[in-house]
Amino acid sequence: MEQKRYGHFDDQHREYVITDPQTPWPWINYLGNEDFFSLISNTAGGYSFYKDAKFRRITRYRYNNVPMDNGGRYFYIKDGETVWNPGWKPCKTPLDFYECRHGMSYTRITGKKNGVEASVLFFVPLKKWCEVQKLTLKNESSETKSLKLFSFEEWCLWNAATDMENFQRNFSTGEVEIEGSTIYHKTEYRERRNHYAFYHVNAPIQGFDTDRETFVGLYNAFADPQAVMEGKPRNSHAHGWSPIASHYIEVTLKPGESKDFVFLLGYIENEQDEKFEAPQVINKKKAHALIAELDTTEKVDKAFAELCALWDNLLNIYKVKTGNDKLDRMVNIWNQYQCMVTFNFSRSASFFESGVGRGMGFRDSNQDLVGFVHQIPPRARQRIIDIASTQFPDGGCYHQYQPLTKRGNNDIGGGFNDDPCWLIFGTVAYIKETGDFSILDEMVPFDNQPGTEVTLFEHLKISMNHVIENLGPHLLPLIGRADWNDCLNLNCFSWDPNESFQTTENVSEGTKAESLMIAGLFVVTGKDYVALCKKLGKNDEAARMQQAVDAMIAAVKKDGWDGEWYLRAYDFYGRKIGSNENDEAKIFIESQGWCTMAEIGAEDGMVAKSLDSCKKYLECEHGMVLNNPAFSKYIYEYGEISSYPEGYKENAGIFCHNNPWVIIGETLAGRGNDAWAHYAKILPSYVEEKYQTLHKVEPYVNCQMVAGKDAFKPGEGKNSWLTGTAAWMWYTVSEFILGIKPDYDGIRIDPCLPETANDYTVNRKFRDAEYEITIHPNGAQKGVKSITLDGKPVEGTVIPYSAGKHVVEVTM
Ligand code: GLC
Ligand code: GLC
Repeated sequence: MEQKRYGHFDDQHREYVITDPQTPWPWINYLGNEDFFSLISNTAGGYSFYKDAKFRRITRYRYNNVPMDNGGRYFYIKDGETVWNPGWKPCKTPLDFYECRHGMSYTRITGKKNGVEASVLFFVPLKKWCEVQKLTLKNESSETKSLKLFSFEEWCLWNAATDMENFQRNFSTGEVEIEGSTIYHKTEYRERRNHYAFYHVNAPIQGFDTDRETFVGLYNAFADPQAVMEGKPRNSHAHGWSPIASHYIEVTLKPGESKDFVFLLGYIENEQDEKFEAPQVINKKKAHALIAELDTTEKVDKAFAELCALWDNLLNIYKVKTGNDKLDRMVNIWNQYQCMVTFNFSRSASFFESGVGRGMGFRDSNQDLVGFVHQIPPRARQRIIDIASTQFPDGGCYHQYQPLTKRGNNDIGGGFNDDPCWLIFGTVAYIKETGDFSILDEMVPFDNQPGTEVTLFEHLKISMNHVIENLGPHLLPLIGRADWNDCLNLNCFSWDPNESFQTTENVSEGTKAESLMIAGLFVVTGKDYVALCKKLGKNDEAARMQQAVDAMIAAVKKDGWDGEWYLRAYDFYGRKIGSNENDEAKIFIESQGWCTMAEIGAEDGMVAKSLDSCKKYLECEHGMVLNNPAFSKYIYEYGEISSYPEGYKENAGIFCHNNPWVIIGETLAGRGNDAWAHYAKILPSYVEEKYQTLHKVEPYVNCQMVAGKDAFKPGEGKNSWLTGTAAWMWYTVSEFILGIKPDYDGIRIDPCLPETANDYTVNRKFRDAEYEITIHPNGAQKGVKSITLDGKPVEGTVIPYSAGKHVVEVTM
């Protein structure tokens, strides 16, 4: 039986083409690269916000709604008695044709019904605070068509959290203004807000609505708004309740005729003394100016071309040609695209993250930037400074911060003892990409307090020190609230369901809870730190940290090895976790990943044994599970990890994020066949068929978790888009499998491939140089035999940096 398919890749246009609106889960895309952002599903659901999905939500969205994914930017077309939407929803009128093309920061949705084609291009123009919706209506029939067109957006009252809870206030605050074809949303502008939003169309309108109940009807739904069904706008003016924006336009199209309408959803900020143009009347000067920049098809097409050109440039920085379309499309398009998205959003806003709970994660953002730094280094630089500014003088740090204020988030606080190390991980990646050591001299405050500034280098130093100053009885790092695994809460001891596993530390006095994951992370980042110090001529500091790294390696060898794999942790009482001695969860992936990346005990066969154990105990059909066997009951001493049912999330789910750690371990050990086998299992394009029905989530990006072998529904994917998996997949394939690794003085070339790999070429822009690198694997999994740079042999595996175009040949 032919399997049902909902879409396919179109590599030439860098799009994923969805051909059936009833995907197994909303398949979404992201619009906007800086400041103004939108989420958009394949049926035009989703919402927009400015910078911060919690504090500046522009349009309203209801998560976990019934039906799923209701609410968005909707166009209703009334053609005689038939009402339909180009994106099928919300009316769900069967269409004669439907297509959604998700591309690089844009989405185009096309529907056809009864001889009319409606195509909408959605995007956020570069450096502008608005979403463009260019609607093209075309009459493909042989008769003149008279259509009634209604647009629809529902405003959020700015703070997405209180918008969903404080109704006693919200139902009385809503305010709008209407001017020509523009509807302004100005709730709370009269008091402390200096910003408003607007929804505009570049055509005369024959009516409008701004009050939701008047437009929809109290007993109707988005699927059958009364005004639309009757074909009569009410010209309602919202006072309180739920303000919306809907334009009404009568459109006549002769056979073959087509018309464009440019809708603009914009956001404006005004200075305090320029807020009003008359008492109670908002100053619209900036809105008028923004509208004027995008009020014709030509202007919009030009802005769209600029956006496409940006992506041409971004995706020209690293381009591989292997002849294997499935690999090439992930490396050249989708993996890099997902890296940009995770860099922008961290874990804040997706269809699984409501945008109100979390801002930017300290560890998450450092990892994300490793997937992004080659794209726009100056933004990565700023991010590093922002992150470091939320650190405390003892090297600890806030676990998250809000993007709008850049302040550490007090609700979650600190105490995640892996966090500091990630700052080294991110900073080193930035310097290697750019050669910009000056970032280390930047003056960066603690906890954003002016007057406390020290250099960024000093921040790195105290980050390292934080680990050394917090060692447990086995001289391994104390875990604190948790390490990378937010759910391994060894000091939490909670019997109270109202306590947060993340923020509760019921006991920590006298704790012996230590983490092998942090031990491995410390060795990996410690080696990087030592190399950096040497590069800077700080030889005493290098020696001091080398000693600490050596001591950590010794501690892992002595007390962190279980015979066939690395232990995961010691609990509060100093008992082993992730050991053969445990009843459940005898082995965990994180410590295998980090300790093999750190190559701890490689000379004694520990690395090889650990990697073999991953294959034997963690690997399954869909990837490697986090721990095995799954916990079957809640364990008070372990915290959230054991709260999940078997096979989900941190309890033996395939947490895709950490699979690449083991894969990198494999590549360092030279096991190219194994590395590739693991990689291909979680590479979306390789398992695209599975996504259509089993994984369910978007087939063009990685999801955070695929249910593991112990789950009730193994193979189900969840939490798509915003996951460290993006950056780690990129780091793994670009630097360790394909083997093109930026270094301080040039590019290190050291691929690790399956024996079956063919010759391939990577075009890599690097600082002011452009390298065309061709690799001849000759059936080898690892080991570069010779390199020539512009025809001349190179010693070793680093091609020294020099500006200009270069041709590199590599023989393995
Ligand atoms: C989520 C969090 C990340 C954490 C991981 C494992 O992906 O964003 O910070 O490391 O879960 O718990
Ligand atoms: C929950 C999630 C975990 C996430 C954490 C932090 O515990 O299961 O993946 O990292 O929350 O918010």
